[in-house]
Amino acid sequence: MKKIVITGGAGFIGSHIVDHFARHYPNAKITVFDKMTYAADIHNIMPLIETDRIELIVGDVCDLQKCYTLLKDCDLLIHAAAESHVDNSFGNSLEFSRTNVLGTHALMEAALKSSVPKIIHVSTDEVYGEVIEGRVDESAHLLPTNPYSASKAAADMVIQGYKKSFHLPVITVRSNNIFGIRQFPEKIIPKFLLLMMMGQKLPLHGTGQNMRHFLAAQDLCQALDILVQKGEIGQIYNIGTMDEYKNIEVAEMICALFDQNPKEAITYIDDRPFNDARYAITWEPLKALGWKPAIHLRDQLPDMARWYYDNFDRFAKNGEERINAPKLQKAA
Ligand SMILES: NC(=O)c1ccc[n+]([C@@H]2O[C@H](COP(=O)([O-])OP(=O)(O)OC[C@H]3O[C@@H](n4cnc5c(N)ncnc54)[C@H](O)[C@@H]3O)[C@@H](O)[C@H]2O)c1
Repeated sequence: MKKIVITGGAGFIGSHIVDHFARHYPNAKITVFDKMTYAADIHNIMPLIETDRIELIVGDVCDLQKCYTLLKDCDLLIHAAAESHVDNSFGNSLEFSRTNVLGTHALMEAALKSSVPKIIHVSTDEVYGEVIEGRVDESAHLLPTNPYSASKAAADMVIQGYKKSFHLPVITVRSNNIFGIRQFPEKIIPKFLLLMMMGQKLPLHGTGQNMRHFLAAQDLCQALDILVQKGEIGQIYNIGTMDEYKNIEVAEMICALFDQNPKEAITYIDDRPFNDARYAITWEPLKALGWKPAIHLRDQLPDMARWYYDNFDRFAKNGEERINAPKLQKAA
């Protein structure tokens, strides 16, 4: 592997993918392609830039010409760039279609013309829509329920067309919610951790009963690596975990980390226009390749809290101050 391109590599998941592939593919040149939206942070990849381990090209995946240049002689393309926050998609859905659908289309077109031999497309389990009971496999219908998941499902469809018509060598992955350090604090875990540090209440949507599975970013990267090595081109792979929590349980774990009484620390706010009660997937094809999740949210939460505490200034753009520190021991 001589050249690996990672789109969205300055964002949350992308930066973990960059870390993993920089470490495990020491002979590969790694290029991050990122528009550097509000969700990106140069600090996520700065140590690797400073040591010349990776290069950052700032650009938009919708820019076809730039994608052509980017993908010249590329051996592996991992596409993780996206508009990713469901709440934003209710008010700004055209931007989601532009980046997630048109951007994916442009990138795949450039990959086709550049004869990229292997592509990993990072999709989401949210394309299957709400799964109240049981779990769905990779053959389930796509039934997205909000503009974000609709744009991701549409991107998956564009790719499906390119696979069938042009034999584009793509593997699509659909994972659960991902947790880890460096996530922009619009998503529940980093948002609640930072609010706790500032002594503010945790605003839970609706009744807080919505369920989510939480998979560690490192486990996701391990799965991607196995798929790069052993995955079947053209296939779709779910990447999941059995670690499932109600949103209120996540809030309570965070309260415990800061010695706060959940009854006082949590407040309830209006729900999203539509809020899927639950997503749930199986991942037999990936399991058959030898992958299983290894890291649990409950175990990693104290370290994550500590990271957000130590990096508080990154997120305190308006001079906010830290009042509470997380306990060092594990959450109850
Ligand atoms: N976060 C999760 O829990 C989760 C779960 C399943 C799948 N996913 C998928 O994983 C991928 C990464 O998600 P994330 O949570 O890291 O998102 P993120 O919002 O943290 O990062 C997205 C990155 O993409 C970049 N980007 C946005 N628009 C771009 C454009 N037009 N051109 C180039 N770069 C652009 C941003 O600057 C940012 O660095 C997305 O495709 C998302 O749908 C996320």
